[in-house]
Amino acid sequence: MPNVKPPWWEGCVIYQLMPRSFHDADGNGIGDLAGITQKLPYLEWLGVDAIWLTPIYPSPLRDGGYDITDFTSVHPDLGDLRDVRLLLEQAHIHGMRVILDLVLNHTSVLHPWFQRALWAPKGTSERDFYVWRDDDQGYADAPVLFRHFEASNWEWNEVAGQFYLHRFLRHQPDLNYANPAVQEEMLKVVDFWLDMGADGFRLDAVPFLFEAEGSRCEGLPETHAFLRRLRARVESSGRDVLLLAEAIQPVDESAPYLANDELHAAFDFGLTAHLFAAVANGRSDALRDCLTHAQEMVPGCRWALPLRNHDELWLGDGHLVPDEVVETILNGFPGAREHWLNWGINRRLAPLLNGDARPNTLLHALIYSLPGLPCLYYGDELGMGDWPGLRDRDPNRTPMAWSRAPNGGFSSAPDPLLVLPPITSPGFDYRVVNVEVQQQLSGSLLNWHHRMLTSRRLLPALRYGDMVMIESGHPSVLCYARSCQERSDGEENLPAMTVIVAANLSGTGASTRLDLSPWQGHRMRETLWGCEFAPASPEWFAYLHAYGFFWWLVGE
Ligand code: NOJ
Repeated sequence: MPNVKPPWWEGCVIYQLMPRSFHDADGNGIGDLAGITQKLPYLEWLGVDAIWLTPIYPSPLRDGGYDITDFTSVHPDLGDLRDVRLLLEQAHIHGMRVILDLVLNHTSVLHPWFQRALWAPKGTSERDFYVWRDDDQGYADAPVLFRHFEASNWEWNEVAGQFYLHRFLRHQPDLNYANPAVQEEMLKVVDFWLDMGADGFRLDAVPFLFEAEGSRCEGLPETHAFLRRLRARVESSGRDVLLLAEAIQPVDESAPYLANDELHAAFDFGLTAHLFAAVANGRSDALRDCLTHAQEMVPGCRWALPLRNHDELWLGDGHLVPDEVVETILNGFPGAREHWLNWGINRRLAPLLNGDARPNTLLHALIYSLPGLPCLYYGDELGMGDWPGLRDRDPNRTPMAWSRAPNGGFSSAPDPLLVLPPITSPGFDYRVVNVEVQQQLSGSLLNWHHRMLTSRRLLPALRYGDMVMIESGHPSVLCYARSCQERSDGEENLPAMTVIVAANLSGTGASTRLDLSPWQGHRMRETLWGCEFAPASPEWFAYLHAYGFFWWLVGE
């Protein structure tokens, strides 16, 4: 029996939260680190393994905190470094890890490095902390990413008398990684948070670190070389720290970040789009191909699998997924088109699905059972709504609904002080859709997530098993087996196991035959309720109701 201590992040379930919108402990209307610490028992009960905090650093907040003015301290609204230490300590006591957002590519224009660069003479290292030009014609093949807000990647600065590069908003100048001093400074930032005890980093916008004429300026060899340096630096700490890449690219382009000496995991945003398209048109073929391809590119459990996050639902410009996938999604979800922002749909999951819990649970049942790191966005465990009409991506970032209390129990501050308005729209009102109410209703979405995550904990095959597709006789039914060998992680013996998953992607019931010949004669027990099915056979029959799914444990 192999005896290996697996890295903590293998197959872990990540809960993403926005610190300003999660829970306000000091009653000033803004969520804070102490508020997160108070809610750790809830997250432990829910059954997640790690929490990912979007940026917690000082920032003028013109891009949700991704515009940073100091990489090694905490935004005063959220607390201070003692609060970070306490959160880490308490999260560990509750059996969870903490992943910080590390924004490598850019700073705020208010960062002292940028202010110093403006006044520094041309050609000095200080000026060259950022990317400057005398005209705005450089890197013409690099697309403008935030096209709803920006028309160019260059912005003129009067003091410097030059244009600076910004791949995101004009107040977020790109750091110049060709300057060795920039690389050193950013590695020091990593050291700082490693010393503090961070368990992982979600690396924002990794493809864009270096630039080259005649390219899209994404994933250049120099960028990979720096990421390898970063990995080596993290390894030198001797700690088991997750490096998770945000690269909104097809898997062929994001796979290189997962080379063995580079990053551990990367989001598969193409899969996210395919999941929505499959539910929109009720077909499993393109989704199956997408899954198979991702596993061919990087086998195992290294793809992070989000349904939604704090940004728009990225569909891209035909580069991430083909145009027909985008059209399928836009035609499949009523109203999706009106919510288009930048490169995707600016809606939360539940309202995008029109409040229908069936596709919602199906999509989660898929990410919880596919090889990888499932990512759950705060509030989606409740089916929380959004506030269309708020600026930028704020519709998806409103306060967590904890209870029927004023402000959904998020904060005791008077309404005008709240960071964003709690949801009161019909069907999603916090007086109905909240943690307190849903914990009391056995059939609630929240209790469903709790049950699914508890089951998943008991099924190591879903955590680190391999995946084999199973032929299904129905175009709407996706079926796969997850199998793992027996192993010991040094603390406990984990059994060999196979779990077979079937999912009906359509809104009508589906009868199907599944070829289960490899398990001929074996017991088939449904894992959530323990119901016994007929033994496996080459022409096994199953009926799945609309958007239904099963996880079957294969027995002796
Ligand atoms: C990706 C983040 O998810 C997004 O919110 C941010 O605006 C950009 N990177 C720029 O940092």
